[in-house]
Amino acid sequence: MTVYLNGRFLPLAEARISPLDRGFLFGDGVYEVIPVYSRRPFRLDEHLSRLQTSLDGIHLPNPLSLEGWRTMIGQLVASADFVDQSVLLQVTRGADDKRDHAFPQGVAPTVFAFTAPLVTPSDATRAAGIAAITAPDTRWQRCDLKTISLLANVLARQQAVDAGAVETLLLRDGLLTEGAASSIFVVSEGVLLAPPKDHRVLPGITYDLVLELAARHGVSYAVRDISERELRAADELWMTSSTKEILPIVRLDGQPVGHGRPGPLAQQMYAWYRAFRDDVMRNADV
Ligand code: PDD
Repeated sequence: MTVYLNGRFLPLAEARISPLDRGFLFGDGVYEVIPVYSRRPFRLDEHLSRLQTSLDGIHLPNPLSLEGWRTMIGQLVASADFVDQSVLLQVTRGADDKRDHAFPQGVAPTVFAFTAPLVTPSDATRAAGIAAITAPDTRWQRCDLKTISLLANVLARQQAVDAGAVETLLLRDGLLTEGAASSIFVVSEGVLLAPPKDHRVLPGITYDLVLELAARHGVSYAVRDISERELRAADELWMTSSTKEILPIVRLDGQPVGHGRPGPLAQQMYAWYRAFRDDVMRNADV
């Protein structure tokens, strides 16, 4: 497998990073995950714009220009021998020669990227829906930044796995925030509800697309706080992300969601999502 590290493409086995890298020592860095279909990155500009926001949020200058990112990603995607891919970009504050919390001076950031086969849920999984659990949201107050400090997300996701579920829905102050690694939508009495994009959640690229599609197709929706009570009374629950796309949640903490089967709006939205994506991919010039 070919990876990109600090300006070079090289085999994974030859990629070396210092143990003093601040990503390793402090989780001091940011990342992106970009889905690629038929070798075409989907919503690339949106992902690169969110990367810029994350870098700004941790006061780390962007090591590459927009064109630099596009070119590098294009080369990485072309180098893989599979066509549907999930590209990881990661930028850390680099490796100093000592360990000090404060920013180092004159240290180059570490820029890493690699691509893996894109594994989206199977048709069978999508048709059956998945189980989720809830847990308190123990993360910090800047969940709008896509940082690599993911320990709270890791622990929450593992809690789901230990419970035989796929995702953990996080609750903060009695309100739904998001999943451990996904955005969450609620359908209640025919209205699609989404938690607001503020410091409590990652501004999901798929989240934005779902709301765009809702507007385009005349689905009534509201972006507002969602209480735990509303979450538990939902007719439909969905998780969305760049790799899971739109996936219905049919059990929450062991209880059925709605009728315990994927709801009609989830299926409709996924059909719109696929049609939109296929259309964009057909017309993409990359
Ligand atoms: N995770 N919220 C969190 C906490 C996430 O980690 C993710 C995605 C999302 C959905 O964002 P998007 O639609 O832009 O993928 C929401 C990625 C896929 C990951 O960490 O692997």
